[in-house]
Amino acid sequence: MSAPSDSVFAHVVRAPEDPILGVTVAYNNDPSPVKLNLGVGAYRTEEGKPLVLDVVRRAEEMLVSDRSRVKEYLPITGLADFNKLSAKLIFGADSNAILENRVTTVQCLSGTGSLRVGAEFLAKHYSQHTIYIPVPTWGNHPKVFTLAGLSVKTYRYYNPETRGLDFQGLLDDLSDAPEGAIVLLHACAHNPTGVDPTAEQWGNIRQLMRSKKLLPFFDSAYQGFASGSLDTDAQAVRLFVADGGECLVAQSYAKNMGLYGERVGALSIVCTNGDVAARVESQLKLVIRPMYSSPPIHGASIVATILKDRQLFEEWTLELKAMADRIISMRQQLFEALQSKGTPGDWSHIIKQIGMFTFTGLNADQVAFMTREYHIYMTSDGRISMAGLSSQKVPHLVDAIHAAVTKSA
Ligand SMILES: Cc1ncc(COP(=O)(O)O)c(C=O)c1O
Repeated sequence: MSAPSDSVFAHVVRAPEDPILGVTVAYNNDPSPVKLNLGVGAYRTEEGKPLVLDVVRRAEEMLVSDRSRVKEYLPITGLADFNKLSAKLIFGADSNAILENRVTTVQCLSGTGSLRVGAEFLAKHYSQHTIYIPVPTWGNHPKVFTLAGLSVKTYRYYNPETRGLDFQGLLDDLSDAPEGAIVLLHACAHNPTGVDPTAEQWGNIRQLMRSKKLLPFFDSAYQGFASGSLDTDAQAVRLFVADGGECLVAQSYAKNMGLYGERVGALSIVCTNGDVAARVESQLKLVIRPMYSSPPIHGASIVATILKDRQLFEEWTLELKAMADRIISMRQQLFEALQSKGTPGDWSHIIKQIGMFTFTGLNADQVAFMTREYHIYMTSDGRISMAGLSSQKVPHLVDAIHAAVTKSA
């Protein structure tokens, strides 16, 4: 039987690929044996393979062999242990906000789902509906916030000339924001630039934001992945929580535990007292219930198993540090190889930037050239995932960058 041509969906136009995930689609379609995918933000081993952490395998084995475990629904807010331990991980075990019981944490669908639930809650229950996001930022941020019903404005963040932070631009734009506006902050390892404020600059940002009653909404997608230390990478969040003020934090375990496809994350809302926190949690349930009812059990159980066992936790921190160290070493190798090849330009930003990505400064033309001629895939803004690189592939990447830069010079 042939398919009828008069589909009720005949008017539907083909949507463009997601600008980030589309890079992988193009990569998969390329038959070249030398192809290299530096587009997607997922960790790869030196051999270019995805990594399942040993500690995750061990936790999974423990879960599978425990016959008392069942597959019942989780509560709307998720696994209670997971929520408590996630709050401790980001705020610190000695956090006053936790000790005073004024944090509500709900398990959500990884970082994206946590941002979305937080944004939906703010759209329903917060006086201000404007959220300021940095330029540039992760491409999904404006879409998540707009669809949740917030109105998105931007603040300056990156200076292409210095390839560093536009600190004055950031302060000026946040000073001009209306009182009470929401401000999205990357907790560490800013995506896509790899540029973070210093501890002193974070102090100034906090002062300004508190004086203007701006509401911080932290996106913490890379805790431990930037510096290799879970505590160091949580410093910005902890600075804001230590002053007793309110904030939201979206956490993801995609990168730091390698649980990408398990979709494990948490949204915490820090309130000024426990009574407000309890009421906030009751409303979060009303946001979540009609969206996906309750979150999945497996990934959160892995995380809880690791976080509550001292030895597994220790092992996790070592594996996490090894991933962060490999990325830091790739930065060094790429920088040194460009220098020894004599590629024109100052490439020191490669070793100054932090986290999974380097914002190379290559323009869209140069990126297209590298894809066409060298089969190297990355987003058109010149962002490369250091986690997708290996020592073996550095020479090929350097040849491509050199050719792209000298071609258009
Ligand atoms: C800045 C930032 N926020 C949030 C996310 C969300 O990731 P996930 O939903 O996979 O946890 C990512 C992933 O790339 C990210 O880079």
